[in-house]
Parts: sequence; structure tokens; C-alpha cells
Amino acid sequence: MTTHDLYTIPAEHATWDVEMQGASRFTWEYDDGRDRLLSLYQKGKDKQWDQVHRIDWDIEVDPHDVLGLPDETIAIYGTPQWDRIKGDRKAVGELKQHMTSWQFSQFLHGEQGAMICSAKIVESVPDLDAKFYAATQTMDEARHAETYARFLQDKVGLLYPINEHLKALLDDTLSDSRWDMPYLGMQVLIEGLALAAFGLLRDMTDKPLPKQILAYVMQDEARHVAFGRLALRDYYAGLSSKEKEEREDFVVEGCYLMRDRFRQQEVWANLGFDVEESMKSVENSQYFKLFQSLLFSRIAPCVKDIGLFGPKVQNAFADMGVLDMAGVDLAALMKQDEDLADLIDMEKRELLVRRQEVEQTIAMADAEVPEQATAS
Ligand SMILES: [Fe+2]
Ligand SMILES: [Fe+2]
Repeated sequence: MTTHDLYTIPAEHATWDVEMQGASRFTWEYDDGRDRLLSLYQKGKDKQWDQVHRIDWDIEVDPHDVLGLPDETIAIYGTPQWDRIKGDRKAVGELKQHMTSWQFSQFLHGEQGAMICSAKIVESVPDLDAKFYAATQTMDEARHAETYARFLQDKVGLLYPINEHLKALLDDTLSDSRWDMPYLGMQVLIEGLALAAFGLLRDMTDKPLPKQILAYVMQDEARHVAFGRLALRDYYAGLSSKEKEEREDFVVEGCYLMRDRFRQQEVWANLGFDVEESMKSVENSQYFKLFQSLLFSRIAPCVKDIGLFGPKVQNAFADMGVLDMAGVDLAALMKQDEDLADLIDMEKRELLVRRQEVEQTIAMADAEVPEQATAS
């Protein structure tokens, strides 16, 4: 079987080729590492994990109710289009399967993009400490892509091709020859938004398998965002105001692209809903509005932190209703992400111990039965 059999809308069979830009840089300075970057690199090496061993793939998943989210989270909920399908649980289940498939397919394609961008950072960034760190991130992103691909193929059973907005932003990010652009496009914008989306779904779902996957991926992503912040804060402090403004324009354009990414237009069209009406429902959906503003909870404080918070960026954030998000405590959020993954591991260990105790008790009882039987 090929993944192409699972694409609900045909995906290109040919590779998508983005022309290489910029230089591959070598450095002969092997000693001059920044402590914080090197300790992030050490953490990246220490915290590698393998989906084969860490994730409980035996857990059953209902493809029609992968995340167990209430109907109210569907953008058309309460509209005439919803009234037409709400009594038909099969149709609602199918819609939920497609929405989850679309969402996780974008995570998957984004992870592949992250792997390619981190590999590009290894090549192009001038300093060795950043090259070392980006090499661990390349491996992290490969593990994430592998995990989401397995989840979609084995558990959800459907895939969607890459969304045009995500593709446009990846294209802009990769086809720029300036070495900081993959950081800004990928680490700050695409990863920042993905991280917020992972977090919302991780906290909303009560299904153990997607919860584990999202929590473990997020544990790594916290390091990735920290890397982007560290490297860019240093670099942007020394840029001219014109150079800074170019980056701010990129942020504004990228944020609008990202905001439009989550409307799931392909799902509505694919399942035969009225697309225009569905888009209006998305715009008016209270759940979607909240989801959309929370999506910026990781991007806005990061952009402020790296020094790209001029009037254009502030106006765009105000226009999108997310300016308040710039005050979010990013470090506290990321500490929470790391702790939550550890907590899931601890609960799994406790469950394993309890299961072993039960099995031992049953085995002891079984061993005692024949003795009692002979005694009587
Ligand atoms: Fe990732
Ligand atoms: Fe990442």
C-alpha cells in the first residue's frame, strides 16, 4: 500500500521542489559556543525518544471520533447546514474523521517542512553551536513526521494534501537566501502556531493516544522555540531599522497566511458542503474565534521577545484581535509542556506497576488452587 491510497483528495506524485538558495557555511571555530545554546543542544541529545517504544500504539482509536471533541467544536454547528446532518450520526462521524485527518495531515506536512528547514539551518547558520543544536532538531522533526504519519495511516485512515497557505509560507521561508529566514518562518511562525494548535488539542482531548502523541511532540517543540528565540534575539539586536522592517513585513504577511490556514476549506468542499456558506460559519463560529486567537499565544510573545514588535506588527495583531497575547509568559507555558509529558510517562509507569501487581496476584491465586484442590 502507498500513502497515496489514503489521500482523500489526490496529492501530487512528483516531489515538490523548492530551489536551494544561499550558501552552505563551514566554520573552523570549534570552541566558542554560547552556554545557553550548548545546554539546549545537550538537552536535545538527552531527550531523544522513539515512538516505537514510548507511544502505546495498541490503544484503539475510533476513526469517527478520534479526539472525542463535542459537536460544538464543529464550525457549522447550529447553522442550517448542521441541522441537515445532525440527526445522521454516520454523516457527523465522517465529518469529524475528515476534520481530524485534515488537521493532523497539516501537522505531518508541517513536520516534514520543519525537518527540511532545520537541515537548512545546519547548512547555512554561521556558528557551530547553532549548527549542533539544529542537527538534533532535524532528528526531532524526523521523529515527529514519522509519528504523525503512523497515526494518520494506522489510526485515522485518511490523509489530506498540504494546505495552500502552509505551502506558500514554507515556500517563502525556504526560498529566501538570508540565513535567519528559515528560523523566523519556521521556528517562530509555523512552529509557534503548530505548538499552540497541538496544545489546544492536547488539553481538549480525553483520548489517550492522541494525548500522548501531542504531549510528547510538544515536549521537543518547547526546545525548538527556545532555540529560535535565543538565536534571533542576538542577531536582530544588531540589524539596521530597514533590515528589521523587512522581517516585520514578513511576520505580518506570514501571520495572515497562518490565520487563514485553519479554515479547513478543503474539507467542506470535499464532503459536498456549500463552501461559501461554510466559510461564513467558520468566521462566525465562537469556538473558531477562540481557537484562532489562542493560536497566536505562542507567536505573539515570541515576536515581541526577538525585537520585531514595531507598529506594523502591533497593528496587524490588533487587527486580528490577538495583541493581548504578546503578554503571555512563554517560558511558563513551555515549562508546563515539558512537565505534562513527564506526567503522562509517570502515569503510564504507575499503570504498568499496578497491572503487574494484578497479574502477579492472579498468578499466585492460580498456583494456590491446585494445592487446595488436592488438600480437600
Ligand atoms: Fe516538530
Ligand atoms: Fe519543531
